[in-house]
Amino acid sequence: MSRFRLTRTLPEDATDAALRADVLAGLTSTPKWLPPKWFYDARGSELFEEITALAEYYPTRAEREILLGRAGDIAAATGAQTLVELGSGSSEKTRVLLDALTGLRAYVPVDVSESALTGAGQALVAERPGLRVHALIADFTGGLTLPDTPGPRLVAFLGGTIGNLLPEERAAFLSGVRALLAPGDALLLGTDLVKDEEVLVRAYDDAAGVTAEFNKNVLSVVNRELAADFAPAAFEHVALWNAEREWIEMRLRARTAQTVKVQALDLAVDFADGEELRTEVSAKFRREGVRAELAAAGLELAHWWTDGADRFALSLSVLR
Ligand code: SAH
Ligand code: AVI
Repeated sequence: MSRFRLTRTLPEDATDAALRADVLAGLTSTPKWLPPKWFYDARGSELFEEITALAEYYPTRAEREILLGRAGDIAAATGAQTLVELGSGSSEKTRVLLDALTGLRAYVPVDVSESALTGAGQALVAERPGLRVHALIADFTGGLTLPDTPGPRLVAFLGGTIGNLLPEERAAFLSGVRALLAPGDALLLGTDLVKDEEVLVRAYDDAAGVTAEFNKNVLSVVNRELAADFAPAAFEHVALWNAEREWIEMRLRARTAQTVKVQALDLAVDFADGEELRTEVSAKFRREGVRAELAAAGLELAHWWTDGADRFALSLSVLR
């Protein structure tokens, strides 16, 4: 029996319907918006991996530093036999956890990106003869059903991806995660921290333009999937710090007035010169805020670990 299994929890037509609904709602709103989960087709997943290697993009390196220092503590505190990872992407940093979790029997990566899941899952089973990988193509905001694998389970949500959810989405998401956990299970949560505005903006507006290309990739996804005619070059990448909400916003700003047609929705969308479309928020956190959001979902912050420069934090909650 193959040790790599890939399950699609949402049929492709449901994914298509979700994209249609989001594009219709987002492009007919004022201001316009699109949810960030649509960045991640195969090209978007590749571009995200390029971002993680950029000098300006510190979160991946900072989180890896914490994992390297604390993976042994995480293994001891959880004794996990199953590692579930939400938004697992390339599972690159996860290898540090997989090395430390000596009693691990199954790894369950969950992602909307089929290409990322297949690439990571096949590589992991080839590298690790004792590991079973049961990958799920699923939306982690949409009521997950996990495969029947041995407990205790450690659910990891790394990279700061929780910051890509709006506050009300975060609350619903954390309650959903709490509902998946049984006594003895744990949540490991990565959060990027509030810091100097200049450092933050540079991380989302790099000199080589990789983040700009990642941002515009969502237009290519809508063009391909919904027969739209966005001209990515007609939009400018914008990254700004919203000090009140303590989040980075990525936007696409129309360079001129233009009309975009989305054939599959029979929709024509007018952009004024300079009009902006919000494509992502990336919230930055403080310890007290993380503690309160976990507590509101019935989870207790048991450990809080940061990197040496206090740029990023990992929190561990174990359910009693
Ligand atoms: N955890 C990795 C990857 C982070 S990139 C790291 O820390 O480097 C964010 C990942 O979350 C992408 O692989 C993307 O496809 C996935 N993702 C984004 N929104 C999602 C959603 N709603 N449901 C499932 N996966 C999602
Ligand atoms: C996946 N997520 C945590 C990234 C972030 O930093 O918010 C996505 C990203 N957007 C631009 N650069 C990286």
